[in-house]
Amino acid sequence: MALLGRIALIAMTTLIVIAVAPVIDLIDRGIDTRRPPGRVEAFVARRLRHVAIPWKARRSTNPEPSNPEVLRDAMEHFADHCASCHGNDGKGQTEIGGNLYPKAPDMTRPETQRLSDGELFFIIKNGVRFTGMPAWGSDTAEDDRASWQLVRFIRRLPHLTSEDLEAMSRMNPISPGEMKERKETEQFLEGAEEKPPAPEKHIHKQ
Ligand code: HEC
Repeated sequence: MALLGRIALIAMTTLIVIAVAPVIDLIDRGIDTRRPPGRVEAFVARRLRHVAIPWKARRSTNPEPSNPEVLRDAMEHFADHCASCHGNDGKGQTEIGGNLYPKAPDMTRPETQRLSDGELFFIIKNGVRFTGMPAWGSDTAEDDRASWQLVRFIRRLPHLTSEDLEAMSRMNPISPGEMKERKETEQFLEGAEEKPPAPEKHIHKQ
């Protein structure tokens, strides 16, 4: 009984520390998102996320094959929807990803690569509450397919080549300002082509 009492006391103290630590942190540091979460907070948040994902979902296997077509579609999808936060290389070194709280993680690292396919899928489909990670899936077979394909692509992240990254940079969405600039350049080039330099006159001497 004494042992049980001691265990209960330790468990309660741990829970209080876990509950109170973020409040003290908030009072101490305010709502600043620039400083990364402390180690305890990051660890607890990750564990909580892990247990919040149903066991069955974590064990699901990827129904999508890993072939060049699937990887190409997923790469395009990633460059279009995910790279604004995660970067084309998945390292999270972007203006948005780097300033979120928590930051977008470096997905080439083992911390992400060790997650099961099912866990990655669940995160992509449902998002992560209290973070900047949005949910991407409605309950359609088409969306599920796209998310499983993205899981395939996330496995590729640590092995992307410079050619892959080059191709992705052409798939990234562009801002209205950039669009205007591109149009102007195109128009300028077309205009220049319409009026090619006058050919030199060829006079045949007899
Ligand atoms: C608005 C920014 C934003 C966008 C856009 C975004 N993410 Fe995220 N993502 C995050 C953040 C922030 C986290 C960290 C969440 C956490 O710490 O639990 C994250 C986490 C993840 C994780 C978990 C990795 C890990 O190790 O914790 C995966 C997988 C992921 N994102 C995939 C995607 C995919 C695929 C897309 C595009 C369909 C995408 N994300 C779009 C911000 C974003």
